[in-house]
Parts: sequence; structure tokens; C-alpha cells
Amino acid sequence: ARQLSDFLASANKRELLALIRFLEEEAQEDDLFELFRLAGETRKASYGDRVFFRGLIEFSSFCKNDCYYCGIRRSNRKAARYRLTKNEIIDCCRSGYALGFRTFVLQSGEDMFFSDEVLCGIVSGIKELFPECAVTLSVGERSRESYRRLFAAGTDRYLLRHETADEAHYAKLHPPEQALKNRKRCLYDLKELGYQVGAGLMVGSPFQTYETLAEDIIFLRDLQPHMAGIGPFIPHKETRFAGFPSPPPKSTPILLSLVRCLLPKVLLPATTALATSDKNGREKGLLAGANVVMPNLTPYEHRKDFSLYDNKLATGSEAAEGLSVLKRQIKGLGLKPDFSRGDHADFQKG
Ligand code: 5AD
Repeated sequence: ARQLSDFLASANKRELLALIRFLEEEAQEDDLFELFRLAGETRKASYGDRVFFRGLIEFSSFCKNDCYYCGIRRSNRKAARYRLTKNEIIDCCRSGYALGFRTFVLQSGEDMFFSDEVLCGIVSGIKELFPECAVTLSVGERSRESYRRLFAAGTDRYLLRHETADEAHYAKLHPPEQALKNRKRCLYDLKELGYQVGAGLMVGSPFQTYETLAEDIIFLRDLQPHMAGIGPFIPHKETRFAGFPSPPPKSTPILLSLVRCLLPKVLLPATTALATSDKNGREKGLLAGANVVMPNLTPYEHRKDFSLYDNKLATGSEAAEGLSVLKRQIKGLGLKPDFSRGDHADFQKG
């Protein structure tokens, strides 16, 4: 495991590309088994057998962006739009707290209704009621000043996937007004301001290559994020990428295990997209080095409307109601469900 981590820490783009190509195209089942074992060993050395739980609240499906892959992009007229009130969001936290969650992840489209003032009021309201809980925001690109205010209001963590570290690839996935440069600026600002920061990408997004994946690895190595959101691309029928395929099932576990070994202490979710794309996806993710799950606390009537891709799971063990199933699944893998805040190892607060 150490050897693989050392290799990833120093490899150049060409070497990374060759490794990814080998794992995707030539590696046999026992090679991949060995890769996943190394990733599991690395996770264990960092966090033991713990799998951290986060309560996900998808609080608005309005979005001013037009990412070509995403079901809630602004030009999808068929997307149902909803917005939770502050009280509704706090009620989600209340039910999550009762279920044992100590991290709440507030995610939305880029919805300008949620000005700094409104969002700060929501975050500080949650922190007042649940001072021992962590609040994670995932609300897209904002100004450094906005990030500063949200941090001052008590936000602990921020998720903003970079999607792809390759300029030309980024431009194929987004309209011209969205720029990779700004996305990267946001991530570095967030880190400097003191957040625990999550970057990440879709595996198998249209026009992705081994080369762009090698660039993703290098970007993650430079940024050193505390979290990484990595799930498969899944087409959404109301997007221009409706006809593009999802990646082969092994691709996401391969990427997860590489990122685990690259960033041994990273908090790495087995994502909903992975569970949606493969019926054993979540287990495979956990066996490849993931150590976070994010059950959905969004009110039931809105869940189907936060539709980033087709057939997105929102019930069963993806939902907070299915917690016992999920806990059993984790224990079945020899891992231990953990409901503490689950900060990154460099951020363990008193
Ligand atoms: N398939 C998989 N993941 C998607 N996301 C958006 N659309 C899709 C899709 N079609 C991911 C993006 C985004 C996160 C919130 O959801 O990576 O950052």
C-alpha cells in the first residue's frame, strides 16, 4: 500500500495515464482485488474500520447554471423546481439529529434566492440548535467574500466538485460562461479560509479520457482536498448527453481506490450515483476504500425532483428511513457505522 501511495505521490502525467490504462484495460480480477485490498488497508490505517454517516438535505432544485450533463440545469424546462424554507431545512436537521446524524450536508443548485444573508441565517440557525454538529454546504461557485461570510456563520465544510481538471474537457461539459479557472479559484479560496474542502469528478463523463483522468489525479494531489466526491456519470434523458453511456462498473471503484491511496486520509463517499448505477455499487465502493455514506434527509415529496440523472435512488438504504439496512450492509463488510461528526484527521476538534 505504501509503495502505491508513494508512486502516486510522485508519478508524472504519463505514468499516471499508463497506470489508469492498465487498470481499466488489462488488469485481471486478481490485480483489481489487490488494488482494492491496498485501498482498504490505507483507509484502515487512517480511520480504522469506521464509515461516517452524513445527512443529505437537497434544499433547492433551482439552478442558474447549465451544465450539459445535469438534470436540473436551467434550460431543462421539464425539471420540477422546489425550494425549502429555513424552517423546513431545520426540521430536516431535527429528524436527522433524532436518527443520530451529526453532520448535515446542505446541497442545492446555484439558486440566487439563497443570498449570503439567507444562507448565513440558515447555517447559524442550525449551529445554534445543534452546536456539536458539522454543517457542510454544497451550493456551488460564489465569491471569496461570500465564502468568508458563510464560514464566519459556522459552516465547517464545503463540497464543490471540480468535474474535470482539463480545460478543454471542462469546456465540453459546460457552457462558455462557466470556467474551470473560477472553479479552481473557489476551491483554493475555500481551503485558505479554513474549510474542510471536497473536490471530485464524475467517472465516465462524456469525452473523458485516460489523459483527463491523469490530470484529475494531479489536480487532487496539488489541491490536497479533505474530501472527494467520485461517482459514475449517469445520463439524464432531458440533457444533450442523454445518449452517452455510464462507465463500466469497475471504473468507479478503480478511481476510488487510486484516490484513497493518493490521499490516505481523504473522506471518500460511496456515492448515490454509484449505488444507482450498480446494484452492489455501494458495497463495491466501500470495498475500494470509500468511508462515507450520505443518506437522504430531504422531505419525501421533493426527493424525485432533485433529479441530477435518471433513476436516482432516494429511497431504501439511500434514504434516512433505510438506515438499519445500510448499517447492516456496512457491518456485513466488516466495517463499523460511525455517527460522530467525522472530521478529517487534520481537523479533529476538541
Ligand atoms: N451523472 C452523475 N453525476 C452527476 N452530477 C450531475 N449530473 C450528473 C450525472 N448526469 C454530479 C456532478 C455534481 C454533483 C452534485 O452531481 O458531479 O457536482
